[in-house]
Amino acid sequence: MCGIAGYVGPRNAVEVVYDQLKRLEYRGYDSAGIAYRDNGNIAVIKRAGKLSELGKMLGEVPTDAHQAIAHSRWATHGAPTDINAHPHYDAFENVAIIHNGIIENYLDLRDELMSRGHTFHSQTDTEIAAHVIGEEYDKGVPLEEAVRLGVKRLRGAFAMVVVSKREEDKIVAVRNASPLVVGLGEHENLLASDIPALLPYTRRVVIVEENDIVVLTPERVRIVDGDGRDVPVVEQHIEWDIAAAERGGYEHFMLKEIHEQPQVIRQAIAGRIDEQGHVRLEHVFSEHVWSDIDRVNIIACGTAYHAGLMGKYLFEKLLRLPTDVYFSSEFRYGDPILSPKSLAIFVSQSGETADTLAALRLCKERRIRTLGIVNVVGSSIARECDRTIFTQAGPEISVASTKAYTAQVTVLTLLALYIAQIQETAGVRVKSWVDDLVRMPELAEKCLLLEPQIEQLCRRIKDTNLCFFLGRGADAYVAMEGALKFKEIAYIPTQEQPAGEMKHGPLALVQQGVVAIFGATDPYHVDKTMSNLKEVQARGGTILAITTENDSIMEKAAESTLKIPACSHPFLTALLSAIPYQLIAYHVARLNGHEIDQPRNLAKSVTVE
Ligand code: F6R
Repeated sequence: MCGIAGYVGPRNAVEVVYDQLKRLEYRGYDSAGIAYRDNGNIAVIKRAGKLSELGKMLGEVPTDAHQAIAHSRWATHGAPTDINAHPHYDAFENVAIIHNGIIENYLDLRDELMSRGHTFHSQTDTEIAAHVIGEEYDKGVPLEEAVRLGVKRLRGAFAMVVVSKREEDKIVAVRNASPLVVGLGEHENLLASDIPALLPYTRRVVIVEENDIVVLTPERVRIVDGDGRDVPVVEQHIEWDIAAAERGGYEHFMLKEIHEQPQVIRQAIAGRIDEQGHVRLEHVFSEHVWSDIDRVNIIACGTAYHAGLMGKYLFEKLLRLPTDVYFSSEFRYGDPILSPKSLAIFVSQSGETADTLAALRLCKERRIRTLGIVNVVGSSIARECDRTIFTQAGPEISVASTKAYTAQVTVLTLLALYIAQIQETAGVRVKSWVDDLVRMPELAEKCLLLEPQIEQLCRRIKDTNLCFFLGRGADAYVAMEGALKFKEIAYIPTQEQPAGEMKHGPLALVQQGVVAIFGATDPYHVDKTMSNLKEVQARGGTILAITTENDSIMEKAAESTLKIPACSHPFLTALLSAIPYQLIAYHVARLNGHEIDQPRNLAKSVTVE
């Protein structure tokens, strides 16, 4: 989840890598550092805190360095301090390295190195790795060979970038379960942990494969495998425009991404619905495979898990296909019972979440069919699943996920319809669902128009110290996602569950001053939800209802009502209600003066357990 950057070429290298880090800030931001060439040595500057703290040091560095690597850290081993910030040197300051991930055997390695007289300045596993690679380099081999041999002594998941004093204008990097991308330029080459950091410089990229080692000089990119054999450098062209990875005039990435959702739904269905109103999914299993599937397991974390709950609702309701949803971290260690005829679906925005990736590998070992629903093309989960459907939501920068969720649920809906179509499932009117899906972007636009009303309403609830998020059916699942957004950025404790569960315990928490947001968009559940509303209201809770334009029941009881347009399928109306929930979290956080795009203690892409 840390940010990695590297540059070698004629420009001011320190300036380039600092700019790259700025574009990667969402990956981690508790400290940052740069190593650059200076008079035949490798100099290092680093600082705890925001990237701007490192920025203040840039005035002190020479402008003629043509080789630099940089890192923004999200601590795993050792507190976020200046000393623990990357880069780290080896014992003789011959090499400097930056690293994303975890070295699992670092304690054993530290003991081994200490027995040979090594001393360490930091508490990081990265410094141990630097000493290991330094030992190999001291044998007189080229840097790439030192990295290749050093990495064989390390266990864990990491991407690592190394520069040396002896070999000017050479950067060596290795990928082991953490993302790494090369940018190809004219007389210059770059490296990054994610594509947006390369886009201002080039659109020609190479995705580094697992266990490969890449060697960058200004004129050449060479890749070798773990045995030192050359492997082909496969270039891809990135079509994203830079503005798509930047804020586009909004105050925060999160707000921009919330507003992108009409377009995101359009993109998610683009090319997947034909003129006859049939769902067409490419690169999924052939038709006969779907009839063989007896059970679905959806595996994901956080917001993607909540999207998975929506998938379960639909697969069971529409297809009568038994579906379970697991947190990846529980699944991977839970010795799951997996039917050989089951399908495991992995939902992930980044495609790099460590627990989800591990769960995927477990399923592959057990020879279970795997399908990814992933946003980032070229990511590990996307590449390792038997089949992958991309959500096509574009880069999501805000740590709090919004548009990825909407895209994930849209794709799960398409998938359920696709299966219904193949199996000719009785009672499923695919055409009417498709008609709704096609209207969704326009309806999502209407939900966004509620923003001024939501902003006003947030002024009334921003000081609460407990907020309930309640609903029934699909409304309950979306409410859970609403609660996650709220705690992530508003930092206000939440209690979320199906509304019918209130009287089995949580009702005890209701007293004067608490807020309860009821999602009540499904007419089938409205009467029952209304009873739950009354229970909370009678005990002093302030009630806000998210309901539809057709509602005449909830509005009578709730203190405030947000009315969204209704689809003909209530499941899709519930999905639209994610938008007001996201805006509520956003405006409460903003009114309370929080940092929206980088909430405390969180990082965008969780590539460690
Ligand atoms: C919440 C959020 C996280 C992610 C989770 C999974 O707003 O962003 O809960 O959803 O870390 O990440 P991906 O989808 O990248 O696997």
